[in-house]
Amino acid sequence: MLRPRGFFVLFFISFCFFSSLKPSFPRPAPYVMRISCGARADVRTSPTNTLWYKDFAYTGGIPANGTRPSFITPSLDTLRYFPLSEGPENCYNINRVPHGHYTVRIFFGLVAEPNFNNEPLFDVSIEGTLAYSLPSGWSNHDDEQAFVEALVFLEDGTASLCFHSTGHGDPAVMAIEILQVDDGAYYFGPGHGQGTILRTVKRYSCGSEHQKFGADYSADSWGGDRFWDSRLTFGQSNDHTISTTNSIKVPSSSPNFYPEALYQTALISTDNQPDLVYTMDIDPNRNYSVWLHFAEIDPSVTAAGKRVFDILINGDAVFRDVDIVKMTGAINTALVLNTTVPVSGRGLTISLHPTKGNHAIINAIEIFEIVAAESKTLPDEVRALQSLKTALGLPLRFGWNGDPCVPQQHPWSGADCQFDKVSNKWVIDGLGLDNQGLRGFLPADISKLHNLQSINFSGNSIGGVIPSSLGTISSLEVLDLSYNFFNGSIPESLGQLTSLRILNLNGNSLSGRVPAALGGRLLHRASFNFTDNAGLCGIPGLRTCGPHLSAGARVGIGLGVCVSFLLIATCLTCWWKRRQNILRAQRIGARDAPYAKARTQFNRDVQLTRHHGHEHARTAAENGPSLLA
Ligand SMILES: *[C@@H]1O[C@H](CO)[C@@H](O)[C@H](O)[C@H]1NC(C)=O
Ligand SMILES: *[C@@H]1O[C@H](CO)[C@@H](O)[C@H](O)[C@H]1NC(C)=O
Ligand SMILES: *[C@@H]1O[C@H](CO)[C@@H](O)[C@H](O)[C@H]1NC(C)=O
Ligand SMILES: *[C@@H]1O[C@H](CO)[C@@H](O)[C@H](O)[C@H]1NC(C)=O
Ligand SMILES: *[C@@H]1O[C@H](CO)[C@@H](O)[C@H](O)[C@H]1NC(C)=O
Ligand SMILES: *[C@@H]1O[C@H](CO)[C@@H](O)[C@H](O)[C@H]1NC(C)=O
Repeated sequence: MLRPRGFFVLFFISFCFFSSLKPSFPRPAPYVMRISCGARADVRTSPTNTLWYKDFAYTGGIPANGTRPSFITPSLDTLRYFPLSEGPENCYNINRVPHGHYTVRIFFGLVAEPNFNNEPLFDVSIEGTLAYSLPSGWSNHDDEQAFVEALVFLEDGTASLCFHSTGHGDPAVMAIEILQVDDGAYYFGPGHGQGTILRTVKRYSCGSEHQKFGADYSADSWGGDRFWDSRLTFGQSNDHTISTTNSIKVPSSSPNFYPEALYQTALISTDNQPDLVYTMDIDPNRNYSVWLHFAEIDPSVTAAGKRVFDILINGDAVFRDVDIVKMTGAINTALVLNTTVPVSGRGLTISLHPTKGNHAIINAIEIFEIVAAESKTLPDEVRALQSLKTALGLPLRFGWNGDPCVPQQHPWSGADCQFDKVSNKWVIDGLGLDNQGLRGFLPADISKLHNLQSINFSGNSIGGVIPSSLGTISSLEVLDLSYNFFNGSIPESLGQLTSLRILNLNGNSLSGRVPAALGGRLLHRASFNFTDNAGLCGIPGLRTCGPHLSAGARVGIGLGVCVSFLLIATCLTCWWKRRQNILRAQRIGARDAPYAKARTQFNRDVQLTRHHGHEHARTAAENGPSLLA
């Protein structure tokens, strides 16, 4: 067996060995997953022959024919949309994604049906973090507004992409891409990593005639097939484009794998207006990561010291005395600078201000919003809620897809969340599903929600027994199961809930003895309600519980009840017969007389009958042997 130190030495040696061999091994292809939403078969798109997988078993929603809002959107014919009846949040859950760093890109589309004229506005979250809110007018722009793109670390083997309805139309998704990139891609400094998502805001190739994806540049697939929008001017009348066919040295291809063509075009300022100024509108109070690309491709600049400029962002100098040739050591060589800027206003202005030579130059710009990734909900609690969703047959309209607590703007309805500083995750501290027409039963693993303080399922049609596991949720203060169809007895375990203040079990079909631990507490903790349960017994206000009986005794009692029943039935029959006789007699004797009269009449009738009888008997005796004798 290797001792730890030996192991590390061996590890170190093999590491060096394989590192030294690295150049001779081609890097394996990155993980690539592309889905054509709503497609029933795999699709290939020209001109790059890109493969898009069919859309199968990732989510709910409805497949439909789609309209591409922008020519940037891949030429796919179908999409998937999510009507509000399927709930406010719907997610694509893509499994078996290897741990790593990914570009996630989602293209939107419009449903190609006459009654779907409205452009839907909705929110998009990636791994529980709100990444994008579609702005109104997104479908009328031919720029990157028709998709959202972000760089994320996927660590749990799945990618969860959710679409949150905001009540403005049905979210509709045309395509999804999950493209692996280098773990170190876009390293912007401390803060880079799992806790951060970089959302692409803008990515321009300056001086390029056409928008291009990485694939159009035949770029390295580890670059994440970035989309580079074309930018021919910054809006100043006198900036202009230049380009070269010279090859460019892009010295370090890892980790970002920029395509060479990116540096073969540029925007350059003119004599009249030496500053190059780029301005854009942004969301205020965010942090942005700005990446600027340069290569000296102007034939008039051949040596260091000929072109020197400062770079200012919103007026603050972020790089001073940038001299491309000096910094790269040569012309036609790429230089990438990045900086992080907090922006409080609504605008971002990047100015290149020449200090030597009259012109500034720039080849490409990338701007990312740095988004703090949300912590998710504890996986055990998510599983418990999912099992509750199944057991109660929760209607589709509830949603309950994705993460229960995040994005914080779109939590699941009926679940209250609290941030747990110990686990650094969200937990569920309340369930409010009262009066929702729910059926089904409560599953035992509801007790995995062990941070619950309050449960209200009042006014539904939930049946079965109250799970005894509820007694393990020690933080429970309020348990309202009133007005349901719970049966069986109240679990003894509820007596362990020492924090319980309110317990409403009234209006169910519970039976048996109220646990002594609960009954005893009635005196000092008022709000327990057990009424309207025919079978409950054992506390003041309810009936007293009968003694415990053996099976034999129960049979005896059963027999006794039967015999009594038979006796009562016999008596009733006798009484009824007798009454029938009386009524018959009444009909004969005094049809119209009231009852009291009829009774006197009856007495007389009897006497008369007797009298007749006597006469009759006597006659019979006279006529022969008497039958009455
Ligand atoms: C989509 O369009 C095709 C023809 O292009 C048609 O056959 C199909 O029925 C349409 N699907 C829907 C859901 O409208
Ligand atoms: C980006 O800037 C940070 C901080 O200045 C730096 O540490 C990092 O190396 C830069 N990344 C690249 C790829 O130049
Ligand atoms: C921006 O970054 C700073 C420093 O890392 C941080 O304190 C601040 O909270 C961030 N602001 C936003 C809006 O994320
Ligand atoms: C539970 O919900 C019902 C119906 O909405 C409400 O009347 C009741 O007060 C709630 N129970 C508690 C303990 O808050
Ligand atoms: C409780 O009701 C369910 C149906 O909802 C039934 O299957 C079960 O037998 C009942 N249990 C008791 C103890 O009455
Ligand atoms: C208990 O529930 C019954 C209805 O089942 C209600 O009439 C009564 O007011 C409740 N008692 C208390 C103390 O809330």
